[in-house]
Amino acid sequence: MSDTKTAIVVGVGPEAGLGGALCKRLAREGLHVLVAGRTPDKVETLAAAIRTAGGRATGVATDTTREQDVLDLFDRAEKEGPLEIVVYNAGNAAMGELHDMEASYFEQVWRVGCFGGFLVGREAVRRMLPRGRGTVIFTGATASMRGKPTTTAFASAKAGLRSLAQSMARAYGPRGIHVAHVVVDGGIAGDKIIQGIPQFAQAMGEDGLVSLDGLADAYWYLHIQQRAAWTHELDIRTFKESF
Ligand SMILES: NC(=O)c1ccc[n+]([C@@H]2O[C@H](COP(=O)([O-])OP(=O)(O)OC[C@H]3O[C@@H](n4cnc5c(N)ncnc54)[C@H](OP(=O)(O)O)[C@@H]3O)[C@@H](O)[C@H]2O)c1
Repeated sequence: MSDTKTAIVVGVGPEAGLGGALCKRLAREGLHVLVAGRTPDKVETLAAAIRTAGGRATGVATDTTREQDVLDLFDRAEKEGPLEIVVYNAGNAAMGELHDMEASYFEQVWRVGCFGGFLVGREAVRRMLPRGRGTVIFTGATASMRGKPTTTAFASAKAGLRSLAQSMARAYGPRGIHVAHVVVDGGIAGDKIIQGIPQFAQAMGEDGLVSLDGLADAYWYLHIQQRAAWTHELDIRTFKESF
């Protein structure tokens, strides 16, 4: 193991997405970033872009719902250096009405939104506990706080993830590990919305979507907080969001 500190971000897609923005920011701060997502091309493209910009990054194709993939990812990270920060960012704003929903759909949304967070959170604390330090951050959404008619599966998975984060914070905070949960309350200004639903992005107007750089700043802020002044939960929205 080298002395270079490492970071893992699980749930990385396009460069202009939250996972992508977090990887780039952590690399700029000098960490070796393990870029983990389920699509090999996407993680490799982002890792290569970080390296071209002078940072250190390794793309690792990882399906976060598979235990062995998660174990391999953490083993790989610790070969590069001690783990400083782990972000669980995988998620999908999966919609659907309960009366139409297949059981397998509900289960898959929960596997990505919650169960993957358990696997990643468990491996993070297993590696960090012996050193008594490290940061673990989970990405939430509006659905973490309330269910709506079409978020039966998504909101229950995100609420479960939030509870996991709370339990972990209470269990491992006193042992030196900072566990935080970020509620992203609104659409993110990334490819998913800007490319995927441009009419929505346009309707939201200037600064109507949550800024990627602003989110990356917030996650970094959580990481560098001194332990006598830790935040467990942040909620982030644009100035024009009503809540
Ligand atoms: N986008 C928004 O407007 C919004 C709003 C509020 C909260 N959030 C939350 O923010 C987080 C990131 O959202 P984002 O939209 O910006 O996406 P992103 O960070 O650009 O990418 C997240 C990536 O997670 C990956 N993923 C999905 N299932 C996975 C699995 N089983 N194993 C590993 N990776 C997996 C997806 O990869 P593939 O691309 O390969 O499918 C996806 O691209 C999510 O937790 C989401 O719930 C998003």
